[in-house]
Amino acid sequence: MHTKAQLLLDWVDNRFPLTATWKSHVSEYYAPKNFNFWYYFGSLALLVLVIQITTGIFLTMNYKPDASLIPGTNISVAFASVEYIMRDVAGGWVIRYMHSTGASMFFVVIYLHMFRGLIYGSYQKPRELIWIFGMMIFLCLMAEAFLGYLLPWGQMSFWGAQVIVNLFSSIPIIGPDLSVFIRGDFVVSDVTLNRFFALHVIAVPLVLLALVGAHLVALHEVGSNNPDGVEIKKHKDENGIPLDGIPFHPYYTVKDIFGVAVFLAVFATIVFFLPSMGGYFLEDNNFLPADPLKTPPHIAPVWYFTPFYAILRAVPSFLGTQVWGVIAMGAATMIIVLLPWLDRAQVKSIRQRGVLYKTILAIFIVSFIGLGILGALPPTNIGTILSQIFSVIYFAFFLAMPWYTKIDKTKPVPDRVSM
Ligand code: HEM
Repeated sequence: MHTKAQLLLDWVDNRFPLTATWKSHVSEYYAPKNFNFWYYFGSLALLVLVIQITTGIFLTMNYKPDASLIPGTNISVAFASVEYIMRDVAGGWVIRYMHSTGASMFFVVIYLHMFRGLIYGSYQKPRELIWIFGMMIFLCLMAEAFLGYLLPWGQMSFWGAQVIVNLFSSIPIIGPDLSVFIRGDFVVSDVTLNRFFALHVIAVPLVLLALVGAHLVALHEVGSNNPDGVEIKKHKDENGIPLDGIPFHPYYTVKDIFGVAVFLAVFATIVFFLPSMGGYFLEDNNFLPADPLKTPPHIAPVWYFTPFYAILRAVPSFLGTQVWGVIAMGAATMIIVLLPWLDRAQVKSIRQRGVLYKTILAIFIVSFIGLGILGALPPTNIGTILSQIFSVIYFAFFLAMPWYTKIDKTKPVPDRVSM
């Protein structure tokens, strides 16, 4: 290196562990050499996080969280400020579509990232904390998406928030007070919009960033799992370097950059050609200003919430309260965190699992996607019955796991990774 640059680096290194951190976490961090397609989504999640924060900062420069109506119209200042961003702010439309596309793509990436954890048993010992931090991130992401959705103050923003906040009021004793506490008012109002804005732009993102930091620190403490479920730290050379490991940089930085390029091509195609994705990324009704006197005929959440929404709707009201559906929906999201303790298999990866586990997993995947589809459709009798069947399968997958993972006929775990 050029001597002046080297001198500067030495100056910094004597005061801050820059080179040491780069080495221990990047250039001399040894990751299993057999990462495949499924290992793109962690770095892609980081990319989408950066996209959301950056575009969010620019949106905030022109957005106004104000539900008061522009005199003589039924259009709120908030709704109008979004239209202003779309029509008058230079490049505003691309920033807004990047942010709205980013919200959906975040969930595409995260669902695939979680699915990878499921098929390779990445939640198992010693990676339980990576999983727990991951689940906390997932909950924060859902909160973040829900809060952000209110901000344009369109029909779906308003009525979606109305439906979800009302769910809390079905909780016995504290419910009604709790929903007033969340809204800050007896109805979804300007007060609600202001607090959702505060939570969306600063409170939740701060927690999210801290959790992502903790997720990565925990990951680097124990090291990555891999598609073979082999612990590469078991076999090291005389210098203590795992025999099946390769330095993260340059090998995985190059692999991840390839993933980023493909992802950005898909992302740009959506932003430029399909920004509302036929109503799945941006719902048609949300291009209409909020009208508290006119309920839209069909209120459905954005696609990434629909599996859980279908579970909510599948549970009938019982003893005059809907709280059971709310409990089921809450349990459906929380139960995923228990995977490290529900899975009793001696193997991690799907590659060594038996027919029993693979069959049950396939049924679970069909049910989860089925719930997602049903949750987006208006309720029908047959739809409700199907949702009930899929909901039972959803919970059975988790609750029966200690049993079927124990009796499943697994293959022996190889000593070294295969390529
Ligand atoms: C903003 C959200 C998230 C970011 C930025 C993120 C980032 C990452 C990164 C960079 C990795 C290492 C690369 C890779 O294995 O793909 C990773 C690994 C992992 N993540 Fe996440 N993650 C996020 C959310 C989640 C969620 C929601 C879960 C599960 C509930 C999760 C579970 C895991 C697990 C188990 C691993 C280790 C995988 C293995 O070693 O096989 N992550 N994450």
